Amino acid sequence: METDTQLAAVQQFTKARMADDETGHGYDHIQRVVNNVKQLLAKETGADQLVTISAAYLHDVTDDKLVEDVNAATDELTNFLKETHFSEDQVAEILEIIANMSFSKSLNGQNAKPLPIEGQLVQDADRLDAIGAIGIARAIYFGGHFGEKLYDPEIAPRVEMTKADYRDLSNETIINHFYEKLLKLKDRMNTNAAKEIATGRQKTMLEFLDNFKDEWDGIQ
Ligand code: ADP
Ligand code: NI
Repeated sequence: METDTQLAAVQQFTKARMADDETGHGYDHIQRVVNNVKQLLAKETGADQLVTISAAYLHDVTDDKLVEDVNAATDELTNFLKETHFSEDQVAEILEIIANMSFSKSLNGQNAKPLPIEGQLVQDADRLDAIGAIGIARAIYFGGHFGEKLYDPEIAPRVEMTKADYRDLSNETIINHFYEKLLKLKDRMNTNAAKEIATGRQKTMLEFLDNFKDEWDGIQ
C-alpha cells in the first residue's frame, strides 16, 4: 500500500472519531498539529515521516478525556493500523508515542522513558498548538466549557501538580492555567525548530497576560 493511501486512511479514521469534540480537542486541533509536525519534519532530519504524521493524526484518539474505555479504543486503533498495512514495528511505535506524550502523563513522572524522535516531534507539534494566540483561544474555550472563572486574584496558581490536581477544575481559573502549564511549555520543547517557534508564541501570551491584568486593574 502507498504511503499516501495509508495517510488518507489514518486521516479518515481520526476525522470520524474527533469531529464533535467541544473541549478544544476537535479535528481542527488535529489538523493544526499535523501542519505543525510537517513544518518541524522539514527542519529536523532523521525521523520516519509516515510514523510521525500518523502519530500526529492519532495522538488524541485513545485519550481518557475523549473515550470511555482506553483499552478498547487502543485495540480498535491497533486493528485499524494492521489492516492499513502498517508493520508491527510501526504499530508498536505509534502506540508507544500516543501513550506517552501527553502533558498530564508527564505530571506523574510517567514520561521518564524518552520518546523516539518521531514522538518528540509530535509532542512538540501538540504543545505548539497549546501556546500563542491559538493557545489563548483554546484555554478560554476549554475554561468556558468547564465553567472556570476567567480570573480571580485571590486564587493562586498551583505550582506543583499531580495528574489528579490537573484534572480538578473546581478552583481553577483560565488565567491560572497559563502559569500552571502554558508558560512552561516553551522550555520543554524537544527540538530546536519547535523552540524557535515557541519563543514568538511565548511573547504573544506574556503580552496578553500583561494587557489582561492592566485592563482588569482599570489601567488605560
Ligand atoms: P494533554 O492532552 O496534553 O493532556 P490537555 O487536555 O490538558 O492536553 O489540554 C488540551 C487543551 O485544553 C490545551 O490547549 C490546554 O491548554 C487546555 N486546557 C487544559 N486544561 C485547562 C484548564 N484547566 N483551563 C483552561 N484550559 C485548559
Ligand atoms: Ni493534542
